[in-house]
Amino acid sequence: MSERILNFSAGPGAIPVPVLERARDEMVNWQGAGMSVMEMSHRGKAFLSIAQATEEAARKLMGIPSNYKVLFLQGGASLQFTMLANAFLNTRAEFVVTGAWGQKALQAGKMVGESHVTWDGKAHNYDRAPKFDSLDIDSAPDFVHITMNETIQGVDFLTDPDINENIVCDMSSCIASRPFDVSKYSLIYAGAQKNLGPSGVTLVILSEDFLATQKEGLHPMLDYRVQAENESMYNTPPCWGIYVMGLVFQHWLDFGGLEAVAAHNEKKAKLIYDAIDGSGGFYRGHAQPENRSLMNIPFVLPDESLTEKFLAETKANQMVELKGHRSVGGCRASVYNAFPMEGAKALADFMGHFARQNG
Ligand SMILES: Cc1ncc(COP(=O)(O)O)c(C=O)c1O
Repeated sequence: MSERILNFSAGPGAIPVPVLERARDEMVNWQGAGMSVMEMSHRGKAFLSIAQATEEAARKLMGIPSNYKVLFLQGGASLQFTMLANAFLNTRAEFVVTGAWGQKALQAGKMVGESHVTWDGKAHNYDRAPKFDSLDIDSAPDFVHITMNETIQGVDFLTDPDINENIVCDMSSCIASRPFDVSKYSLIYAGAQKNLGPSGVTLVILSEDFLATQKEGLHPMLDYRVQAENESMYNTPPCWGIYVMGLVFQHWLDFGGLEAVAAHNEKKAKLIYDAIDGSGGFYRGHAQPENRSLMNIPFVLPDESLTEKFLAETKANQMVELKGHRSVGGCRASVYNAFPMEGAKALADFMGHFARQNG
């Protein structure tokens, strides 16, 4: 795949090449239907079979229990910030803020009702996540919101919550990167464009018990019950995204499931963290070691001019999108599920070489 560049983008991120190839092969004439998935009626037999296959593969890959709904919505994870608060915030919601996306979820919550900050990593410049058992949650909130992996800060809880409350979790940047226990959550949401497929579709997994607590009288498009009753087809769904997502789920099932995906991701991330830790302080990672994300690895170099030089040289070596988010600075390597091992190795080798030349 020499024409493929090493894409370290934080999102949209890399999609498995066999998925792209299959989508290409089926682009003009999906399985003899004589038309593309983009041209089909979403109410027709062909597309209904695609949507069903995507849901089944999602359930299998992520071990989603039968008392959870699987929805394919639109508006990205950003609309979920508002939609979930609008639907479930009655008296008070709690927010555990571990970075920039958690702050956004909190802001959306505040526009709807009482939104209390349980824990905020600001004092530590968002370089860590709390231990779940250390959280002091005021009694009976409507839900507790967490961001499992903060994409900008590269901070991940790395474990499922074990809290006897309704946990609502933004998993946009780590979903399906390792096994997780859906039953520990009341609602999980993720924009597809990092680990699941193209942008434009948002995966929502929610428990039927939690759904039963939803407010009445919501606008149908913002009503999870309406979306569930209509199997995500209250209006025209993001058909192409649902189709590609199904191919991505099947790809990782064939790869060996989430245990195998996790082992692969751990190896990839270790290559880069080892390059940081082995550089004698030339590179400094942002996250504390116990919360290091396996998906997003922000790091800084000694100064701005070295950062610029590093970015120019990596680009010349077919490694792109390594510039860090402006709020953290430096560089960020995003290595989602579909990012290849050789790419992580190439970056780690280059980092070693660059530090020796410029350190
Ligand atoms: C953790 C997290 N939450 C939410 C979002 C926003 O997602 P979207 O662009 O799908 O609204 C992002 C996007 O990068 C993200 O990384």
